[in-house]
Parts: sequence; structure tokens; C-alpha cells
Amino acid sequence: MKKERILLGALAAALIGASLPAYASGKTEGDSWTSLPNEVAVNDKGTLTVGYVMIGSESDWRIACNRSIQETFTRENGYSLLTSDAQQKAEKQIKAVREFINQEVDYILLDPLVENGWDASLEEAREAGIPVIVFDREVASKEEDDYVAWLGSDFYLEGQRACAYLKEYLERTGYEGELNIVHIQGTLDSSAQIGRTRALDDALLENKSWTLLDRKEGEFTTAKGKEVMVDMLENYGDKIQVVYCENDNEAYGAISAIEEAGLKAGTSLKDGEILVLSFDSTHGGLSMTKDGEILVNTECAPLYGPLLSQLIGRIENGEEVSHIQYVREEQFSSLAEPGEVTVGEEVYPVTLITDELLEARSY
Ligand code: AHR
Repeated sequence: MKKERILLGALAAALIGASLPAYASGKTEGDSWTSLPNEVAVNDKGTLTVGYVMIGSESDWRIACNRSIQETFTRENGYSLLTSDAQQKAEKQIKAVREFINQEVDYILLDPLVENGWDASLEEAREAGIPVIVFDREVASKEEDDYVAWLGSDFYLEGQRACAYLKEYLERTGYEGELNIVHIQGTLDSSAQIGRTRALDDALLENKSWTLLDRKEGEFTTAKGKEVMVDMLENYGDKIQVVYCENDNEAYGAISAIEEAGLKAGTSLKDGEILVLSFDSTHGGLSMTKDGEILVNTECAPLYGPLLSQLIGRIENGEEVSHIQYVREEQFSSLAEPGEVTVGEEVYPVTLITDELLEARSY
């Protein structure tokens, strides 16, 4: 068994392409795009033990992601799933990797809370011949054979699309004044935070009339999002025109704080409404986007289970796997215009939210 694992690790290393992860900095040449499929790859060659190093349950997105993995890696589908919930603690995740190595699992699925601090654990897994698949967020490792594959979101592009939407919105509504923005960040040093924050920083440099009034960590949760928004409203009151939230849960919290302060989150800046930008596009987030409380919602896709099972299936069959795969995502608004945004040379559609679309959103 041990020997097989080592061979699998060696095979995976041999299959790895030349491209390296981009540290939440977005897709680079040679990386590929994929969509999240629904079909689970059933393993019929004897049960595979999979250790899932989970982050926690901080958001609706995370709950959907965890459920997708639990529903995929079942006994009926040929897997034995061991899950370790790190409850948002990086040390717990590192401990979990070590425990899965000791338990001699066949695969480790790692969704890293933060990008840094993974070198030793990944090396231990490699030495033990256990393939690690990193997904959703990235690790900052530069070693190309530290893990078999990474698949997840282009968080930087998500942020760029959100900022491009804001810019288009301002142009289309003829708004030319100064624009005051507050920013609620996700967990610091997580890829989702790094990419989305970097995109806003770039947009602030590019758009001279945009001012960042304040920036605070909202930990991707509703409670913290509300707490920091209350604080920012106390400090800046109705000077705040835009809230850049790094996920839907932070947006729920921020909107609740805005309402309690007697202000309104909406789509009409000229009527004094506060524009809320959000990420994820969960059912709750899309519903608030449809109602106009969130101006634009940039998707972050969470249902990784089937794609991860397909990847394991390919590795088991000795097939080639892409080292880096970015997941295609959408963007939603309740406004018909702008119907598209441009980032660099690429034009991305913005989908108008309908009742059918909302009904079809399972998470
Ligand atoms: O890593 C994905 C991000 O983490 C999602 O945007 C957020 O909701 C989650 O907690």
C-alpha cells in the first residue's frame, strides 16, 4: 500500500505542469479553466480513504462547500471520508494534516484557511507519499510538487469584476463626484481576502476620485461584518457611499447595520443610498441583490465535491491532471445596465437576477 502511494505521488509529480500557483494573484498563462460539474466520479476499485481538512462553518458559502464534499465522498460512492473541522484556526489545520498522514489516508483534500505556513506539512505528506489536493483557497508554496493539483477561484479577477462594475455603474449614472468607500475584509492572509483586496487597491490607484475611508477585517461572518460596519458608521456616518464586502455574510451584517443607523442600502447613489458590493452569490446574497440591497454580487462557486472526485478518479486511472485549474464564475445584479463589464481585454456578462435563477440556487 505504502509503495503504491509513493508511486502515485511520483506519478502526480511527473504530471505536474510548469505553472505555479499565483498566490491569489489570478490566472497565469498555462493554467486552465473549468466549470464545477454535478456528476460524481464513483470509485469502484475498493474504498478510498479521503481526509478533508476543513476550514470551519463561517459562511453560507462554506456550509454549501462542506455539504458538497460530504454528499460526494460517501460509502456508496466508494469513499471513506474523514473530516477535521479547524474552526478557523490555522494550527488546527496543520495538526489535521499530520493526523491524516498518521492515519495513512489515500488522499488529503486541503482547503487552507490562510496561504502561509504550509511548507512543513506539505513536505511531510509528500514524504509519506500521500497526494494532497488543494482547493478553493491557495497555499503560498512555490514547490511545484508540494501538491498534486489546485482548483479554485480567481479571487483577484472576482475583485476586478466587482470594481469594473462599480466604475461602469458610475459612468452610466453620470456620477462624477468624489466617492467614499469602506472595505470589510475577509480572514486576513486567506486567498479570497488577498485577491479581492488587491483588486480594490488597484482600482483605488486607477480611479483618483475614489477614496478609501476605512478598512477592517470582517472574518467572512455576518456578526463581525455587522460589528465593523457599526463602527465605521459611527466614525463616518452618511459620508459612506460604497461598502465593499468580501462575502455575502459580511454584506448581510453590513446591511443590517446600515438599516439600524437609519440609512438605506440600495442602487441609487444620487438618492443617498449606500452601494453594497458583495461576493459569493449564495441564495441569501442573490435574494438581497434581487431586492437591490446589494448592487452587484460576484460569484464564488462552492460545490467542489464532484470535481474533486473526478480529479481523484483521473489520478487513480493514471491520467494526466492539470496542476492549476480556475473555476468559471458569474456576476449578478438587479439592474439591466451595465449588462457587461470589461477587465483588461476580456468582456464579462452581468446576469440579471430572475425568480427562476433564485429558485435554482440550492445554497
Ligand atoms: O474561500 C472562499 C470564501 O470563504 C468565500 O467567499 C467565503 O464566503 C468563505 O468563507
